Amino acid sequence: MRRGLLIFLLVNLAIVLFLVHQVWSLLTLLVVDGAEDAIAKAELPAVGSPRKDGKPRLIPKIIHQTYKNESIPPVWQEAQASCIDLHPESEGWEYKMWTDAMSAEFIEAEYPWFYDTFKGYRYPIQRADAIRYFVLSHYGGVYIDLDDGCNRSLDPLLVYPAFVRRTLPTGISNDVMGSTPRHPFFLKTIEVIQKYDRSWILPYITVMGSTGPLFLSVLWVHWLRGGMNVGDGAEGGRMRLIFPDEYNGHEWSFFTHHLGNSWHGYDVQLIFWMSRNWILVTIVGFAIGITVITLGYLAYRRFASGSKDASKWNKPTYGHRLPFWKRFTSSRQDYELVERHEV
Ligand SMILES: *[C@@H]1O[C@H](CO)[C@@H](O)[C@H](O)[C@H]1NC(C)=O
Repeated sequence: MRRGLLIFLLVNLAIVLFLVHQVWSLLTLLVVDGAEDAIAKAELPAVGSPRKDGKPRLIPKIIHQTYKNESIPPVWQEAQASCIDLHPESEGWEYKMWTDAMSAEFIEAEYPWFYDTFKGYRYPIQRADAIRYFVLSHYGGVYIDLDDGCNRSLDPLLVYPAFVRRTLPTGISNDVMGSTPRHPFFLKTIEVIQKYDRSWILPYITVMGSTGPLFLSVLWVHWLRGGMNVGDGAEGGRMRLIFPDEYNGHEWSFFTHHLGNSWHGYDVQLIFWMSRNWILVTIVGFAIGITVITLGYLAYRRFASGSKDASKWNKPTYGHRLPFWKRFTSSRQDYELVERHEV
């Protein structure tokens, strides 16, 4: 009986450890701060001035954007124009707009092993996510979402081997990213992206976890944990971070955020609701967990006593009247002795 209880507790412990192990990267994500990789205001030149610290530019002057075809909707044209205007060809910048057709052609020609997964993605946004990692890894440059406008020249950011945007409270985003060609982090990203192509029932989580910011954040945590975040030179693996103040909202910020994401659906409402009501969600989660464990325990007791001697199930024994802690510590011998007295 007590060995059974021990097994029951061990099985529960194993399940809890397994769940913690499964979500360990997500838990880590909550505590990873990344402040030491922040691109600090102090190391950036004033708006409109060149960098004066003599650092060589590592990231090529290419801006990548994506849209399904060549007709950019009016709501994004202003943002698009702001980036093109601040990065003119006359200063050596190249602008690449990746349409769906161009993206598919590029993947088929350069990364044929990925083509089936790419075409097979259920949601178009997954292709839009994936293509940005492949073109950054291939050509290097700066990827910018179509709903992000530019507020100043990105030239001061080209001295880092790679940068991404830190989102608060957790993780990184994939809406603006810069990198040298074949940067080890983006090489890793395209190498593992197929492995993450899983369905998580809700479209939002599926997209986030298979190709989106959550996918990238998990890889980033692995990158930090694996000690890969080192090297500031052309071959370096370090990922620098743009924190919110350098992202938008100030005259010195690099970007201006325009309209929100265009692909959010009902499940996003649910997730936003859950994050607004996270205390309730946590309590309900615990209640469900405790209920499951309790039901498991009751089922176990029923099974254990039933298998030994069915008649004992309804008969109180001294063992059940022992204080709670003694039931776990007193030996089988005590029970037998006491039971004999009672008889
Ligand atoms: C681009 O897509 C939009 C929306 O699906 C469509 O209305 C438009 O005609 C397309 N433009 C071109 C050039 O194919």
